Amino acid sequence: MGTDTLVQKLKSPRYTKTAIALHWLMAVPILGLLLFGQQTMGSHNAHFLPTVHASLGLLIVLMLGFRLYWRWKNPSPAPLEASYWKKRAARLAHIMLYAAMVLIPLTGWLAFTEHVRRSLGARPASWFGFKIPLLPDFGMNWHMVHNWGGKLVLVLIGLHVAAALKHHFIDRDDTLKRMLPSGNFH
Ligand code: HEM
Ligand code: HEM
Repeated sequence: MGTDTLVQKLKSPRYTKTAIALHWLMAVPILGLLLFGQQTMGSHNAHFLPTVHASLGLLIVLMLGFRLYWRWKNPSPAPLEASYWKKRAARLAHIMLYAAMVLIPLTGWLAFTEHVRRSLGARPASWFGFKIPLLPDFGMNWHMVHNWGGKLVLVLIGLHVAAALKHHFIDRDDTLKRMLPSGNFH
């Protein structure tokens, strides 16, 4: 890390407005896709809901590209947590959440490919009206990977949210507030 970014990190107690906007603009559709995945992709004949699912899902990857670039240029504020192990756990959880934001849509794209190639039951979908190219699927059961991956990520997000709420209501520190668009700071 360069001196400038280090100074910025020490001076800035909260996430940048862009980081906050990206966190919530991505968190809402991700939670929606996780909670309503089955309803949006379950119907074999419809076109609209699978298209919403695939379009939002692939948009997440594009937004993540920009988010990682932004994070690289604007490092996150230092954790408010004092415990060494909790800091390590939070860092690991954040890395896993970033990885999930690539891997879940990618396995979805592979599941879509598998559906089209192996006629598992058509789930016609497009990316905002554009044809989605098929990927090599290596004959794997990607729909299983996508479905179970989604469940695991939901557990991870559950822990992430529980940690944020614990900081807010039990430790009463600014961890949650500094990820919210507004709110008084200590
Ligand atoms: C953040 C992104 C995404 C999330 C969180 C997500 C989540 C889910 C969930 C929860 C399900 C239902 C699992 C179940 O039935 O138990 C599902 C199914 C499915 N998703 Fe996604 N998805 C994402 C992106 C995508 C993308 C980008 C595509 C395609 C381009 C896609 C294609 C599919 C398909 C084809 C199914 C049906 C799989 C099956 O046959 O059971 N998903 N998704
Ligand atoms: C109600 C839901 C959520 C709440 C309350 C929440 C809260 C927070 C808070 C308070 C932080 C800052 C942590 C810190 O300062 O150490 C944070 C960071 C983060 N959140 Fe969430 N979050 C939610 C949903 C999600 C979802 C759905 C995802 C993605 C799957 C996600 C991914 C991340 C990531 C990757 C970071 C790390 C940011 C960094 O690089 O420093 N969050 N979240």
